[in-house]
Amino acid sequence: MIVQEIKKDVYGIIMNDWDRRLFDELIPLPDGTTYNAYLIKDKKSVLIDTSDPRKTDKFISILKKVSGGKIDYVISNHSEQDHSGSIPAVLKEFSSARVITSDKGASLLNKLLLVPEDKFIRVKDGEEIDIGERKLKFFHTPWVHWPETIITYSPVDKVLFLCDLFGSHLATGSFYASGNDRVYEAAKRYYAEIMMPFRNHIKKHLALIDGLAIDIIAPSHGPVYNNPQFIVNAYKDWVSDNVKNEVVIPYVSMHGSVNTMVDFFVDKLIERGIDAKPFNITVTDIGELAISMVDTATVVLGTPTVLGGPHPSAIYVTYLFKALRPKTRFVSVINSFGWGGNTVKLITDMLPTGDIEILEPVIVNGYPEESDFKLLENLAENILKKHRGLNIT
Ligand code: FEO
Repeated sequence: MIVQEIKKDVYGIIMNDWDRRLFDELIPLPDGTTYNAYLIKDKKSVLIDTSDPRKTDKFISILKKVSGGKIDYVISNHSEQDHSGSIPAVLKEFSSARVITSDKGASLLNKLLLVPEDKFIRVKDGEEIDIGERKLKFFHTPWVHWPETIITYSPVDKVLFLCDLFGSHLATGSFYASGNDRVYEAAKRYYAEIMMPFRNHIKKHLALIDGLAIDIIAPSHGPVYNNPQFIVNAYKDWVSDNVKNEVVIPYVSMHGSVNTMVDFFVDKLIERGIDAKPFNITVTDIGELAISMVDTATVVLGTPTVLGGPHPSAIYVTYLFKALRPKTRFVSVINSFGWGGNTVKLITDMLPTGDIEILEPVIVNGYPEESDFKLLENLAENILKKHRGLNIT
């Protein structure tokens, strides 16, 4: 736990969860995570977001000390339980407190946490609430990460509180991001796993954020940004349409045929100056794979045919690719089959429709022969031409 005053009478309360290794029963957390809440002590005492239920007791104990026993408002920027889960306990401890959130936020908090309807103050996009020396302004910023998400801005303090957006799953003893070399990679992993599907929404929100005077960006996961441009510029890069001269190759191989083809293919890409990133799906950290998809131009999936279709691990990765919606431009498949099947069609049918171009796959019966290696080299050459067409080298 870290409590730090970030501006006069504005406190950050970071609850480290050092040992958590999975989020939403899906997302690996190699570095744990944090749940950050913020407290503004003005004429009204305002708590911004809370903590995960697993930290409620400690959070309430700290909050009682830092607040001096007075909370008038709890702002809920986001209803997911890692930030809202301690709201019922806060309302029990501070019985006159009311919850400020959007209409959708109120509905979700009512359904998920049974917060009574009469506890809510619903704020519209752009609405302000006077808390004494300060007016807090609320912006509706849907889909960072759920449809109800809002962000809270304190113009007097020049602090922007935005819950999940700009977060990182990084438990650390450092309150601020500056000087912490681990933050960029952790923030990129977080973007890849959580924010990437909402890239086009975030583009719009970045335009809004660009118009605000900001000294401090206060997310609800990971260190606080006292150099806001660091994370704003990183996000501008990640959400842009720019891709890199890279090929990500998630693959699975049962008896070595796909492995041999992937090895050869990787060499041919490297010979052409293309950064090749193979991931053996059976052992890879799925978060590492997600990070690699943030700005790669091309993804090539390697899979054998099993029971007439792709290996189940390859199906999982294809589904993940579709769900994460990276800005990948080209996709292809390297496949080895024994006696039939419909593997490549089953994979390409799962891909998102839109801007992705499917490149000629390499389909091999059994172990690759000379002519098959030639096809793999052709695929590498085709990718080189496509990347040059995008003006990336
Ligand atoms: Fe950190 Fe969407 O919750």
